[in-house]
Amino acid sequence: MTRATFHFPPDFKWGTATAAHQVEGNNTNNDWWAWEQGEGHIKGGQRSALACNWWERAEEDFDRAAELGQNAHRLSVEWSRIEPREGYFDDAALERYRTMLRGLRERGIEPMVTLHHFTNPMWLVEMGGWENPRAIPLFERYVARVVEALGEFCDLWCTVNEPNVVATLGYIVGIFPPGRQDSAAGMRVGRNLMRGHAAAYRRIHALQPQARVGFAHNMRIFDPARPRSLLDRWAAALQDRMFNESFLAAVTRGRWLWPLGFGLVWKLRHTLDWVGLNYYTRDVVAFDRRAPEALFSRRFHLPDAELLDGGYGEFYPAGMSRFLNRLSRLRLPIYITENGIPDADDDQRPRHIVTHLHQVWRAIQGCRLVMGYYHWTLVDNFEWAEGWNLRFGLIEVDPQTQKRTVRRSALLYRDICRANGITPEIIDEYTPELRPLLLPE
Ligand code: FCB
Repeated sequence: MTRATFHFPPDFKWGTATAAHQVEGNNTNNDWWAWEQGEGHIKGGQRSALACNWWERAEEDFDRAAELGQNAHRLSVEWSRIEPREGYFDDAALERYRTMLRGLRERGIEPMVTLHHFTNPMWLVEMGGWENPRAIPLFERYVARVVEALGEFCDLWCTVNEPNVVATLGYIVGIFPPGRQDSAAGMRVGRNLMRGHAAAYRRIHALQPQARVGFAHNMRIFDPARPRSLLDRWAAALQDRMFNESFLAAVTRGRWLWPLGFGLVWKLRHTLDWVGLNYYTRDVVAFDRRAPEALFSRRFHLPDAELLDGGYGEFYPAGMSRFLNRLSRLRLPIYITENGIPDADDDQRPRHIVTHLHQVWRAIQGCRLVMGYYHWTLVDNFEWAEGWNLRFGLIEVDPQTQKRTVRRSALLYRDICRANGITPEIIDEYTPELRPLLLPE
């Protein structure tokens, strides 16, 4: 009996995603570097240090990506390198990025460039960072320089990575710089980042009419702990509105939704050519009247949930198709700008890749316009406050020696990229345990 292959569209983009600070090394002039020096900020006192040494040797990993069948890569450029002092632009840094992008193109890999991935130059931080509305025109000016310099090799731009995570972890939870616990400041920062996105969107189109511009949105499933409880449902819906919906509503419908803000913002409306989904996990939410600062919510995982390394969350592939279906209402092309799993011993990752891509395939069958998938990530890298403890790479990296070891799931992903789909042979070879689920006799 012939069994089905889960085919993807002919021009589907298969890639991985990275971020400058996590891979380049020696990004000494930004707020994350400063934060890493502070006691207790990074697990085990670890530092990004040389990271994966991409500033010197990115091309060696680009070779690996190409050998592994990938035809797309999302990377970010580091504002603090390009504009090390306010108004002074470093041509040598821009030239290094031109070399990287040319290198990707030469290897048949289409670049997507993220313009802001968590880090800020110290000079911007000294004027209040994104709490200060001056950040918006300053970001726009920096973006213009980048597009002028790199536009020859790139027309797929991601303005801002996960503004909701920057606002939440930096200003409410306080585990990212600047380590504040001030919701009002967090919401101000969130609004300014979205204004920065819109300013960048317009500026990029003025410079490069064919540009395709979007942002990468971290979306997390929030399900009510007791589905019949009105209070749990209300608490889960409030989390969803704050984290998932409000940032999108601003740049699609031109509306601030509470608690991000109030009222209309017409200038932000229709400033997306595509939407980027960063999907990792889900929480279940119970109403907690003693936690007004947490939007009356207690978040946890169900007792039977399969958990990820280091308390990262729940293994929940269905969330992928739930979000793709939901995002399709925006009637925009969708890129899965990140999806991956911390898994040092690579025992869950093969099943993660196959089950999540199967969910993507299902969404595409339902006419969802999904253009590409960027697995997080190509090489183990500096995982922010978690340091080197969480290993998301298809390729293992020893940060001390810089030695690379290709994980088995890199070969699985290679076979999927080459086949442009998930074949029965791939399932049998890498994840035979999924056969009853995906290939019922
Ligand atoms: C996302 C970030 C990315 C990486 C992954 C694991 O939230 O955008 O830089 O840290 O999580």
